Amino acid sequence: MLSSITFAVLLFLVNTAHSLVVCPTLKNAANFTVVAASSISNTGLTIINGSVAMSPSVALTGFNPSGTINGGLELGTGVALQAQQDATTAYNNLRDITNSTQMTGVDLSGRSLPPGVYKFDSTAGISTPAGTLILNGTGIYIFQIGSALTTSANSEVRLINGARAGCVFWQIGSSATLGQYSVFVGNILAYASVGLSINVTYYGRIYAQTAAVTLNSDTIIGQPSCDVCQTISNSVQGTLNRNLPENSTLYIFIMFVLLLIK
Ligand SMILES: *[C@@H]1O[C@H](CO)[C@@H](O)[C@H](O)[C@H]1NC(C)=O
Ligand SMILES: *[C@@H]1O[C@H](CO)[C@@H](O)[C@H](O)[C@H]1NC(C)=O
Ligand SMILES: *[C@@H]1O[C@H](CO)[C@@H](O)[C@H](O)[C@H]1NC(C)=O
Ligand SMILES: *[C@@H]1O[C@H](CO)[C@@H](O)[C@H](O)[C@H]1NC(C)=O
Ligand SMILES: *[C@@H]1O[C@H](CO)[C@@H](O)[C@H](O)[C@H]1NC(C)=O
Ligand SMILES: *[C@@H]1O[C@H](CO)[C@@H](O)[C@H](O)[C@H]1NC(C)=O
Repeated sequence: MLSSITFAVLLFLVNTAHSLVVCPTLKNAANFTVVAASSISNTGLTIINGSVAMSPSVALTGFNPSGTINGGLELGTGVALQAQQDATTAYNNLRDITNSTQMTGVDLSGRSLPPGVYKFDSTAGISTPAGTLILNGTGIYIFQIGSALTTSANSEVRLINGARAGCVFWQIGSSATLGQYSVFVGNILAYASVGLSINVTYYGRIYAQTAAVTLNSDTIIGQPSCDVCQTISNSVQGTLNRNLPENSTLYIFIMFVLLLIK
């Protein structure tokens, strides 16, 4: 009995030697649907369903009466700063996952992808006008983009077979620009700015770490957070962004000791 437990534990350790359990969490940043650093500028009848935060700036323009925020507002407060800091931590953790599927130079238009980690050394985009990217299946989707993300007019990110907006993460080294009348899904964590052209429908959250969020007659609908974990082959062993247990090796070891004591 005991030796089979030992074996099972050893097997687990061997199996996890090169894998990372990824449970992305945005912590306090998840309380907000739009977070910016330098300004949030709106034109037209934008609707944001969810709360908005900005830090360090307080420059919010184009709302009341034009745009509508169905949620709370934190401008230049400690709560906004905390959201910004937690978004930065999430951004760094997403960027630092090593063993990704190399996608540099690949146009996302017309692609259907399973859950995974996809890396673009420089830019990424849905470049074909009205192009569609399908995310297929339950799990976590992480896009590591070295510089800018750009989507074309009328393009669409579509979720099928259990894929959920809260579990899609776009880590963007510079800025994101979404084309007019496009549909976009997920959590954008951009180092600089995020710009939505006219009439974008956005399901998820937007974080601009150091610069602006610019909106124009868009609809932004906050989505539930991701509650899925996924094991990813990786050169670095460990657990990323998991609330509990912090360290699965340690956790298994403690469980094992508890079993022995019993
Ligand atoms: C934000 O969410 C966290 C849980 O993720 C909660 O503990 C905290 O109170 C929330 N902050 C605000 C200002 O609602
Ligand atoms: C946005 O929120 C408002 C007010 O809570 C609600 O009436 C509306 O249905 C929501 N829209 C979407 C697309 O969720
Ligand atoms: C979705 O994934 C399933 C299972 O891998 C596959 O059979 C199916 O063809 C995929 N659908 C699309 C549209 O890619
Ligand atoms: C955006 O779409 C709405 C309908 O959803 C439409 O009434 C409005 O005219 C559009 N705005 C622009 C600038 O095309
Ligand atoms: C990277 O992932 C592949 C396939 O998922 C796996 O075979 C390989 O061992 C991994 N490499 C490292 C260094 O973790
Ligand atoms: C997990 O805990 C073990 C034992 O404390 C430690 O050696 C290892 O470095 C930890 N791994 C990570 C990724 O924190």
